[in-house]
Amino acid sequence: MSDSAPSRRSLITGATSGLGRAMATQLARRGDRIAITGRRKNLLHEVEAQLKSAGAADVLALPGGVDDPQCVAAHYAQIKQQWGGLDLAILNAGVGGSNNAKTFAAQPYLETFATNVHGVCNWLEQIIPDMIAQRSGTIAGISSPAGWRGLPGIGPYSASKAALSTLLESTRVELRGTGVHVVDVCPGFVKSEMTAKNDPNDMPWLLETEDGAARILRGIDARKRIVHFPWQLTWPLRHIIARFPGWLFDPLITRWSRS
Ligand SMILES: NC(=O)c1ccc[n+]([C@@H]2O[C@H](COP(=O)([O-])OP(=O)(O)OC[C@H]3O[C@@H](n4cnc5c(N)ncnc54)[C@H](OP(=O)(O)O)[C@@H]3O)[C@@H](O)[C@H]2O)c1
Repeated sequence: MSDSAPSRRSLITGATSGLGRAMATQLARRGDRIAITGRRKNLLHEVEAQLKSAGAADVLALPGGVDDPQCVAAHYAQIKQQWGGLDLAILNAGVGGSNNAKTFAAQPYLETFATNVHGVCNWLEQIIPDMIAQRSGTIAGISSPAGWRGLPGIGPYSASKAALSTLLESTRVELRGTGVHVVDVCPGFVKSEMTAKNDPNDMPWLLETEDGAARILRGIDARKRIVHFPWQLTWPLRHIIARFPGWLFDPLITRWSRS
């Protein structure tokens, strides 16, 4: 970017840890203006300081949850007042969610959808009108290959990411010709607070956080529709296992989830 060009206006939700924090740091090194959100205020301000020292042109630290529509509206109002709008929105905030259908509970589904799906809708409602008006902008939603089939044990997470990828696709098609580009990002296993709870042996091709963040940003830069990686994991999942008929999928996934 030339010295005279205004720096890109970027938003990353859920930037207090993991992929969000790493992507924010990489965008700061490029000299973006960056708005970051997250519920843990102390961590958010720690990241704010880190981004400033990494070279961000400006940083807006916006504490609060994506699941609260009024909070999201207030956050966007602040961005609009400071920068007039956004060029890039990475809707990354997400939570895991587990359940067992034998003792089915609605709460894990409601909580997981509140962040992973409604949180994205809350932001889309705010940012799409202005991106259409400026005839440009990129929206990336961080979904997951876990949404490509209904996975046992993590039903709430799996269903929420299926919903997210589907809503991103509808949005992408509906925004064709407006100048607004939508990307569905489905990373494989990446080191973060979310995956720290898992056994590393259950996470093939586990990537370092910085590497995962860099691959997402490269996919966004390339204006892909769907970004998924690493191919060694996601290609067979997407093109073979996602297409298994139920009679084959059910016993195989049961055996895998018990092992
Ligand atoms: N790591 C992986 O292997 C992997 C693979 C596929 C997809 N993903 C997706 O990548 C995204 C980032 O996850 P991560 O792995 O980096 O995990 P992480 O380290 O746990 O980060 C999650 C981030 O989301 C924020 N967050 C959670 N609920 C929120 C809410 N209601 N409002 C605002 N922020 C909220 C958290 O901040 P606060 O707690 O401070 O709010 C945190 O900054 C998620 O959408 C996840 O599903 C991760």
